[in-house]
Amino acid sequence: MTYNLAGKTALVTGGTRGIGAAIVERLAAEGVKTAFTYVSNQAAAESLASRLGAGAIAIQADAADPAQSKAAVEKTIEAFGHIDILVHNAGIFRTGPITEFDFDAYRQQTAVNVDAVYAGTHAAVPNIPEGGRIIVISSVNAKRMPFEGFAAYGATKAAVTALVKGWARDLGSRNILVNAIQPGPVDTDLNPAAGPFFEPVSGMTALKRYGKPTEVANMAAFLASDEASFITGAAIDVDGGLAL
Ligand SMILES: NC(=O)c1ccc[n+]([C@@H]2O[C@H](COP(=O)([O-])OP(=O)(O)OC[C@H]3O[C@@H](n4cnc5c(N)ncnc54)[C@H](OP(=O)(O)O)[C@@H]3O)[C@@H](O)[C@H]2O)c1
Repeated sequence: MTYNLAGKTALVTGGTRGIGAAIVERLAAEGVKTAFTYVSNQAAAESLASRLGAGAIAIQADAADPAQSKAAVEKTIEAFGHIDILVHNAGIFRTGPITEFDFDAYRQQTAVNVDAVYAGTHAAVPNIPEGGRIIVISSVNAKRMPFEGFAAYGATKAAVTALVKGWARDLGSRNILVNAIQPGPVDTDLNPAAGPFFEPVSGMTALKRYGKPTEVANMAAFLASDEASFITGAAIDVDGGLAL
């Protein structure tokens, strides 16, 4: 499937691995000039950028620091002039019941999963042209809490889904479309199919399996395209039927 995205520009946060890397690869395959961030995995970042060739840029930027999120946006604009497609994907997954999960852990996760989304969007919005897209990788845990210990992570994802709805209103008059993707279990380093959640979580999906990063990237490419021109403020589950 090609979505006529050639010549557009994008910034994807957390693009070295998992869902983010699949989105970067998909956008690049569609002809989008794509910048992506990473926090520590320089070798993977350089290898992905060189594999994608001209037009791909790797930017080291720790999402835990709002100044670095802003700087990543500025570097992308310096390189491309503007950002047509902004994808907030970088995220961490920390769990623990309230009796054990302390405030510092809560603050750290919220900094990466929520504050960076706000800081990056705030910095980018003046340079997102009419017809632009903001896509936030939230989670089905924004609305489903099937296990103990998910409160802090779920709260970060509910927060970004709420930001998406508000920004869809704020930016509608500029025809900037803002949507959230709420993945269910996807086989990545963050939630490996070989890990402890596989049995209980795959069993909760209608399809009885984990998703692949490309299955989330397919939705991101669609939302970035003209085919999605009347979709904004949506929180779209890509979850194999977990949230039913
Ligand atoms: N996998 C799932 O089951 C699942 C389900 C629902 C939602 N999600 C969401 O999907 C998103 C991607 O998850 P994933 O499973 O693909 O994760 P992943 O495999 O752990 O990859 C995380 C990516 O984010 C980057 N990253 C992590 N912390 C960062 C930071 N502080 N600053 C900048 N970049 C950072 C990593 O960069 P480095 O390589 O440099 O470390 C990597 O590129 C997350 O927002 C997650 O909450 C995942």
